Amino acid sequence: MRPPELGDEDLRSLYGYPDELDSPWFRVNFVSSIDGAVSVDGVSGGLGTPADKRVFTVLRELADVIVVGAGTARSENYGGAHTDTELAQRRTGSGLSAVPPIAVVTASARLDPTSRLFTDTTIPPLVLTSAAADATRLQHLRDAGADVQIVAEREVRGTDLVSALDQRGLRRVLCEGGPGLFGTLLEDGVVDELCVTTSPRLIGGTAGRISLSPTAVPTSMVPRHVLADADGTLLTRWVRA
Ligand SMILES: NC(=O)c1ccc[n+]([C@@H]2O[C@H](COP(=O)([O-])OP(=O)(O)OC[C@H]3O[C@@H](n4cnc5c(N)ncnc54)[C@H](OP(=O)(O)O)[C@@H]3O)[C@@H](O)[C@H]2O)c1
Repeated sequence: MRPPELGDEDLRSLYGYPDELDSPWFRVNFVSSIDGAVSVDGVSGGLGTPADKRVFTVLRELADVIVVGAGTARSENYGGAHTDTELAQRRTGSGLSAVPPIAVVTASARLDPTSRLFTDTTIPPLVLTSAAADATRLQHLRDAGADVQIVAEREVRGTDLVSALDQRGLRRVLCEGGPGLFGTLLEDGVVDELCVTTSPRLIGGTAGRISLSPTAVPTSMVPRHVLADADGTLLTRWVRA
């Protein structure tokens, strides 16, 4: 199947979350090069293709919340998600909020209160952190409008994120990385699904891969679909076996 032959409604259907979720469903989305690089010169933009961009947009449209590690928010200069009137109406018609919040996971609270996360957004970002984070930095983030939630005493684990998002009724979770956060989620067994775009490029260099954790955590997954675009982009969706 080729993405240009698929309409947006087809993609929404192919990437639909399970119905009637009674706990958060963690979908993780990444783009990688054929040789496994997660970035080019420290950002993922160099891996993007038109088909990847389409799916990235559809995945955001279907989500209650977009979760991201602070490393990615900093290196990719994250801003809030944007919706136009038509998209907002489609979302609210499907029982979603008009705009999905960005939830940043951080241990250090080292986020710049003047960055796009706070200034280029229509709704406040969530900052999910631990009681060990620097109190002054957290206050600066609150002052900049962040909705700060202490979700753990020391280390933020995948299960802490599941509980925090569940309490807020945010069950259709889209995690956009990065590799450090994905590794933690994998270690904690909370990854329900992975969407990976393979970009038709070889990168070499020293870029890492999509997941990083101190120990290996072999996790069996089964394919839901594999789509190929004419330019060679492969769009895959995997769910936990
Ligand atoms: N190709 C893609 O699709 C894609 C997607 C995302 C990112 N990337 C790339 O990945 C690179 C960033 O990698 P990264 O490993 O630094 O990303 P990351 O996982 O987003 O960031 C790691 C940082 O996030 C916070 N964090 C992650 N997990 C945490 C946890 N369980 N508890 C508390 N804090 C947690 C910590 O921030 P603090 O230091 O603030 O405590 C940690 O230092 C960039 O080059 C980016 O372009 C690529």
